[in-house]
Amino acid sequence: MSGVAAAQGAEAGRAEAERAAFLRDALAGLSAEPRTLPGKYLWDAIGSDLFDRICHTADYYPTRREMALLPEVARDVAGEIGPGARLVEFGSGASRKIRTLLDALSRPATYIAVDISGDYLAGAIRRLAPDYPAVTMQAVCADYAEPFTLPLPGGGGPVLGFFPGTSIGNFPPAEAGAFLARARAALGPCLFLVGADPTVDPDLLHAAYGGADGLMDAFHRNVLVRMNRELGADFDPGAFSHAVRLRDDPFRVEAHLVARDATRARLGGAEFAFAPGDSIRTDTSHKYTPEAFAALASANGWTPLRYWAGPQGGFSLHLLRG
Ligand SMILES: C[S@@+](CC[C@H](N)C(=O)[O-])C[C@H]1O[C@@H](n2cnc3c(N)ncnc32)[C@H](O)[C@@H]1O
Repeated sequence: MSGVAAAQGAEAGRAEAERAAFLRDALAGLSAEPRTLPGKYLWDAIGSDLFDRICHTADYYPTRREMALLPEVARDVAGEIGPGARLVEFGSGASRKIRTLLDALSRPATYIAVDISGDYLAGAIRRLAPDYPAVTMQAVCADYAEPFTLPLPGGGGPVLGFFPGTSIGNFPPAEAGAFLARARAALGPCLFLVGADPTVDPDLLHAAYGGADGLMDAFHRNVLVRMNRELGADFDPGAFSHAVRLRDDPFRVEAHLVARDATRARLGGAEFAFAPGDSIRTDTSHKYTPEAFAALASANGWTPLRYWAGPQGGFSLHLLRG
């Protein structure tokens, strides 16, 4: 077999394994009570593009607040990390925020972008690379909720990990701790800059997670479209609408797809019936005060060095040492 044929065979095998895992997770989640779908399946190229548009809306406060903090944070972190750094971003999406760090750091050497949304990741790196010709760029398509390794050979420059946005909140707290421990092992000795959102104001949360110019509705319904296309399901996406629910203990924002009328869908030989008002939880966002996030990081192998917070304490960026 030629090298090209072997690579194509490996790629086809990987795609089939991913499809089988998606089907297994979807069947398990839709058979559970309450019904859920893992949030990671929101992220295909369409979902990533919709999310990038959400980040530009007035309602989606986390991006605006974090971007307002980043220039000062990047200057301070540049002083701490020194020249020749190797940057690793988890959940890099459109790779916009990394530009502020790349611009502030002295002669950054490498940028490794890790994201589950493979096609979108490749496009983001293609757009970024020409603006930073001296930086070696690597796209790593991986699920960071599973064990992972990073292309970080020994003997290179200092390592700076970056996990911006509110992504840490998408894990339940125990899994957030496990992610921080995995990142600690994968990054080795490093600094790690992590975003955390303490917002509990219901009006702000409903506007950001429920509105965003109607884009949140399309973003969450896209997972039904994706199951139809990739898994041969027959959901009627128009039969569901998106709703936000605030929950306590611990405080979190849940996104649901709620059936407007009675509807049914077939998937992988099973049939699922929905009465009006029945819902599927499609994502969760846990909120962390700076103190709660620092405690979580400390319990999972990190030393919190400092954090920066916006004027109303509306978003925080934490610098950890590992
Ligand atoms: C909320 S967006 C944040 C994007 C960007 N970092 C920002 O701050 O605007 C989450 C990003 O993480 C990626 N992602 C979500 N779950 C993931 C997983 N389990 N493994 C790897 N990437 C994931 C998504 O594809 C998406 O790009």
